Amino acid sequence: MSYKINLKVNGQLKTLEVEDNELLLDVLREKLKIKSVKAGCWRGECGICTVLLNGLPVKSCIVLAVEADGAEITTVEGLIKNGELSPLQKSFVEHGAMQCGFCTPAFTLVAHYLLTKNPDITEEELKQELSGLTCRCGTYHQIIEAILDAAKYYK
Ligand code: FES
Ligand code: FES
Repeated sequence: MSYKINLKVNGQLKTLEVEDNELLLDVLREKLKIKSVKAGCWRGECGICTVLLNGLPVKSCIVLAVEADGAEITTVEGLIKNGELSPLQKSFVEHGAMQCGFCTPAFTLVAHYLLTKNPDITEEELKQELSGLTCRCGTYHQIIEAILDAAKYYK
């Protein structure tokens, strides 16, 4: 059975026809062609498919598109302002916090959420909060450095 849903994606309203069993991940990647949203395990374990739904991180492979009806979705493109990377995104680049970059959109979005909530987050708290995200290249150290360095822009 198909439904019509509305999503506000990175500030733009999208009206879409989706099946009742269609995943938010598939809608973002295949219908809206937002390829920064990555697919890894497809079962809610690796966190690579994370986007912000009404400001909160969710694993888009375990959210049905119909559940997101009416929601605001932010992908990593949504952090770019006036064509310029955000200070957090620049910090990832400056700290070399990526190798293949596959995990970067998810880590960046979760970091944005965490720093918005608490710019004074400690290294230990950050490690704990990021424990649900996988970087298969093992760039964790640089990712943590990049996030902690960018915290000043959220204060
Ligand atoms: S692809 Fe969604 S958690 Fe792994
Ligand atoms: S940089 Fe390759 S998966 Fe994290």
